Amino acid sequence: MTSWNFEEINANLSQESSQINNAADLEAFRIKYLGRKGLVSEIYAGLGSASKEEKPLIGKNANDLKNKIQAIVDDKKDSFQAKSQGEKAKESIDVTMPGVNTPLGQAHILSQTMNEICAIFEQLGFAIFEGPEIETEFNNFTALNIPADHPSRDAFDTFYLDTKDPSNKERNLLLRSHTSPAQIRAMQNNKPPLAVIVPGKVYRPDAVDASHSFMFHQIEGLLVDEKVTLSELKGLLTVFCQKLFGKNIKMRFRPHFFPFTEPSAEVDISCYICKGKGCSVCGRKGWLEILGCGMVHPKVFEAVKYPKNKYTGLAFGMGVERIAMLKHGINDIRLFFENDKRFLKQFK
Ligand code: PHE
Repeated sequence: MTSWNFEEINANLSQESSQINNAADLEAFRIKYLGRKGLVSEIYAGLGSASKEEKPLIGKNANDLKNKIQAIVDDKKDSFQAKSQGEKAKESIDVTMPGVNTPLGQAHILSQTMNEICAIFEQLGFAIFEGPEIETEFNNFTALNIPADHPSRDAFDTFYLDTKDPSNKERNLLLRSHTSPAQIRAMQNNKPPLAVIVPGKVYRPDAVDASHSFMFHQIEGLLVDEKVTLSELKGLLTVFCQKLFGKNIKMRFRPHFFPFTEPSAEVDISCYICKGKGCSVCGRKGWLEILGCGMVHPKVFEAVKYPKNKYTGLAFGMGVERIAMLKHGINDIRLFFENDKRFLKQFK
């Protein structure tokens, strides 16, 4: 019969078990020793042919060996299981942990201001109308009764594009210098009665400083019907200013000139800083200019081919940056476009 060297087997066992690194290694190890054709079975199978003296000793050694191997297998199994559970635990979410706040975004202060202004006019029955930022000379100037030699048509005051106007091959397209060309589009596309409010970007080649930007925002208003009067214009803008700046705001309509309105006026509000006494913000005048307005000029109705003497209309236009600056005491227009969060997050 085969005589077993248990000392050597035990030594091999310790050496092999130290090299078990994963479940597959462990299974191979288990089969080698405890499997049906494994070493332990082989030892037991040989017992029958062992001598009477040898039998108890081999039997005892075989039992010890079997227990030892089983202990190694159990032990390794436990440690692999614990390890994989630990890894799973790391991946899973601990629902008892306090959550991490996702910081909430907010609309830009200019969007907020535009929304606020538009909402006031929407409540008063105006509809939002939008025109393109790329315009024709006709819509931006000619149809608005701005003469061919008017300085605002100059390249120093308007951005002209290299592209020709498809409807007039002699003229280039331009970036609108005010939202008033949208008046022309609104009237060309709609019959009176008509009440629209036009928010949007406008462009002028100004050098950037604390009060100038080559791009800024305007809101245009236009109301056309058969008997619109100047007192309606005054009433409408008074309601608007009170809603935007508060009931106690003082206003004045100062005569002015715009080619596309007649009569025309500029609207001032009492200075929010000094309440009309005079300070550095209002240039010691006590008043701040906030918008231009007037009654639609008959030449404009003519340009959009409305029937003669049938309609009257009121129009107004305001700069959004200027209004936001006045409302919130912001002293530099560049702050709106630098997107410094420390500035923006103040306007929740
Ligand atoms: N378009 C004028 C401007 O940009 C403002 C305005 C609009 C004035 C409508 C009168 C009527 O200054």
